Amino acid sequence: MVLLASLLFRLFLIPSVPVRATTEFTFRGFKGNDSEIRIAGEAAVIKPDGLLRLTNRASNVTGTAFYHKPVRLLETNRKATNATTVRSFSTRFVFVIIPSSSSSGGFGFTFTLSPTPNRPNAGSAQYLGVLNKENNGDPRNHVFAVEFDTVQGSGDDTDRIGNDIGLNFNSRTSDFQEPVVYYQKDDPNKREDFELESGNPIQALLNYDGATQTLNVTVYPAKLGFKPTKPLISRQIPKLLDVVQEEMYVGFTAATGKRDQSSDHYVMGWSFSSVGENPIAATLDLSELPPPPRFDSGFIGRYGHHACVALLLRHVQKATATRRDSGRLGNRSSSQIQIQRSLRRHRWIQGDWDHRNRRVRNGLQRKTRQRRSHRCEEDHSE
Ligand SMILES: *[C@@H]1O[C@H](CO)[C@@H](O)[C@H](O)[C@H]1NC(C)=O
Ligand SMILES: *[C@@H]1O[C@H](CO)[C@@H](O)[C@H](O)[C@H]1NC(C)=O
Ligand SMILES: *[C@@H]1O[C@H](CO)[C@@H](O)[C@H](O)[C@H]1NC(C)=O
Ligand SMILES: *[C@@H]1O[C@H](CO)[C@@H](O)[C@H](O)[C@H]1NC(C)=O
Ligand SMILES: *[C@@H]1O[C@H](CO)[C@@H](O)[C@H](O)[C@H]1NC(C)=O
Repeated sequence: MVLLASLLFRLFLIPSVPVRATTEFTFRGFKGNDSEIRIAGEAAVIKPDGLLRLTNRASNVTGTAFYHKPVRLLETNRKATNATTVRSFSTRFVFVIIPSSSSSGGFGFTFTLSPTPNRPNAGSAQYLGVLNKENNGDPRNHVFAVEFDTVQGSGDDTDRIGNDIGLNFNSRTSDFQEPVVYYQKDDPNKREDFELESGNPIQALLNYDGATQTLNVTVYPAKLGFKPTKPLISRQIPKLLDVVQEEMYVGFTAATGKRDQSSDHYVMGWSFSSVGENPIAATLDLSELPPPPRFDSGFIGRYGHHACVALLLRHVQKATATRRDSGRLGNRSSSQIQIQRSLRRHRWIQGDWDHRNRRVRNGLQRKTRQRRSHRCEEDHSE
């Protein structure tokens, strides 16, 4: 009888005990997932492959995509101190950014924790579809964003090219920012820089550990062949506790600026987990994701080949001359930054080409190459 009573008691008790609700999902492409993500603004799932496009290259647009169900990110340790902490979580995504032109593009995208599954009235350009002029910096926003920034200096109106990852708490200004690099596997002190706006798939891994309040951010070219062990960012972020509410939506926001300060922002796949003490978001293998968007216009299409190196150099000479004329020698002018960026991008594409060339050495490909370099010359006959 006592046993039965205790059993009944337990049965009735169970539903009143707060459910340790955790979330886990994996999108390998977004085909057929219209009901699992909430999209707004310019965001769309591109048919037929199922790429998620956050923005196209239109001027001053925003786009958002959030997981349809909120995620429980606060937990109270009732047995011990009653202290509330942010639950550990892990998320991974593969993205592609295609800039509108060789020397520009923008403004970037964010992975965001938000109390709402969209960002109503959020601004374009430097507001990245998260906030706007009026609510920027307001602690009542309860938003945390990891920003992948491709335009720098938006605060000081210089609109320089950026290539940074920042941590933003209720504000478009980052508390902390790092230029984009990954660390080599054999030598963790060796930094390799690369471009967010390369047009190639890039993998990002965000791991937050609730016990140590540490967020790790690792970003690397998806074709690298290994995951760097040393994260780009490893920071304690106790402020996250002030931002996070009982239930939060997780997802992406992106924005473009005026004319050439715009990019296509794509997400090819996305996984998330808050399960267990040390959640690890499911791996995303490129071979399981929809093919990346074609990068066939703008800079790469025109310069993406050996024969175009000469043209690139001419570009560099011209810009150097301009810089000399303007008497700014010795300073990192914006044209200099642009050239460096162009060269970096070119190196990347070159690598891709070399790889392909090694694999297929036949006459047909030679023909294609000739055709391409021909097109390149035509495009640039000045
Ligand atoms: C996305 O849709 C596919 C096909 O309908 C389904 O198998 C998969 O579980 C969905 N993914 C998520 C995260 O809901
Ligand atoms: C935690 O809070 C509850 C309700 O406020 C209280 O009953 C309990 O004694 C607290 N536990 C500890 C360990 O302080
Ligand atoms: C973050 O990175 C540091 C340094 O590599 C590592 O010691 C720590 O375990 C990582 N934490 C998480 C949550 O990944
Ligand atoms: C459009 O973007 C530019 C930056 O490229 C920005 O200066 C401008 O304020 C934006 N316009 C609107 C209406 O948001
Ligand atoms: C670079 O520009 C800054 C500000 O315009 C100036 O103070 C500095 O002296 C310049 N440096 C050189 C090497 O010309």
